[in-house]
Amino acid sequence: MKIVIGCDHAGFGIKSAVISHVLEKGYEVVDVGTNSNASCHYPVIATAACEKILNGECELGILICGTGIGMSIAANKHKGIRAACCSDTFSARLTREHNDANMLCFGERVVGAGLALDLVDAFLDAEYLNNGNHVTRVAMLSEIEKNN
Ligand code: RB5
Repeated sequence: MKIVIGCDHAGFGIKSAVISHVLEKGYEVVDVGTNSNASCHYPVIATAACEKILNGECELGILICGTGIGMSIAANKHKGIRAACCSDTFSARLTREHNDANMLCFGERVVGAGLALDLVDAFLDAEYLNNGNHVTRVAMLSEIEKNN
């Protein structure tokens, strides 16, 4: 499985640790930048990552900015992306299990490198509970996208 990973300048400090961790877990990684501390615009990176999921190249993604919020807002503008900004492992697990989230976002300025890797584990190790009300509600999310 391929995981797309992106960050802006405010998330660049932990991106390489996140990439190494994901590779160690046995996934392939597609890195959509940014590749330095130079100021850049998170919607650009979020869009590049979302395109990798929406064109089928990658199954899941991880986006890092200062807070995780800008990345998650930008990612959720893309039809078919369900991005969750998480700073606790319970939410990172449950957003896969209940929301079928396909993009994990977090903030380097919010979580340290240790928690960041735990969030990645919680997200990637979880599976969507593809039954009952979860399916109904995720379908309702798609319906909202279609109608708005
Ligand atoms: C960049 O300064 C910062 O605004 C950005 O990384 C992110 O936190 C936005 O939500």
